[in-house]
Amino acid sequence: MRESGNTNKSSHSIWLVEALSVMSEPARYSAFETLRDGRRVEIRALRPDDRADLIAAVGRSSGQSLYRRFFAVKRSFTESEVDYFLNVDFVDHVALVAVVDENGRPVIAGGARYVVVQPGKAEVAFAVVDQHQGQGLGAALMRHLAAIARGAGLKELIAEVLPDNVPMLKVFERSGFPLSIKREPQVVHVTLRLR
Ligand SMILES: CC(C)(COP(=O)(O)OP(=O)(O)OC[C@H]1O[C@@H](n2cnc3c(N)ncnc32)[C@H](O)[C@@H]1OP(=O)(O)O)[C@@H](O)C(=O)NCCC(=O)NCCS
Repeated sequence: MRESGNTNKSSHSIWLVEALSVMSEPARYSAFETLRDGRRVEIRALRPDDRADLIAAVGRSSGQSLYRRFFAVKRSFTESEVDYFLNVDFVDHVALVAVVDENGRPVIAGGARYVVVQPGKAEVAFAVVDQHQGQGLGAALMRHLAAIARGAGLKELIAEVLPDNVPMLKVFERSGFPLSIKREPQVVHVTLRLR
């Protein structure tokens, strides 16, 4: 089994300090992590000016990844769908992106968000661009999103996952939070208890 670059204690304490300093303001959230291959990644709040980069990230994702994220064959999005993804209030809808350096340019390699569905409970969703999968980005996004959710007083995160989506289920299982799983033929219902 590969070691996660994120298990390093000093990198953990760095992101913890940085994350705590902005915890009161999720809309300005920013923390740095080290990926398994040693690259640095910034996990930060989604911004309105991320529109073009977000669309580009979708364009660089495989059909399988998009299907696993949206449960449908989806190659493009309408303007109003993109508006919905960008229009986050950081209270009931919180979105983080993972930004890595590609040829000296910062690009969005993945993202995660939650939408509050009832008091204390939010639904989460993740997406990492294929070429950046397996480097610990999903796990890092999970940690930071859960930290924000806990800071906001949420008690549960829920998700619907396709039964064959092993990477997503691993991210939830290894999040460190008590987990319950309900399997149906077409979908797995996951609940993480945050407190
Ligand atoms: C699920 C997803 C977000 C995980 O992101 P990630 O950055 O790959 O996650 P991590 O690197 O933290 O890896 C999590 C585990 O999955 C494994 N994994 C990642 N990509 C994999 C792949 N393509 N094939 C097999 N295993 C894979 C990792 O190796 C790791 O397991 P390990 O710790 O035993 O090595 C990403 O695979 C993705 O975007 N999938 C498509 C969209 C999706 O499924 N969204 C979920 C909807 S809720």
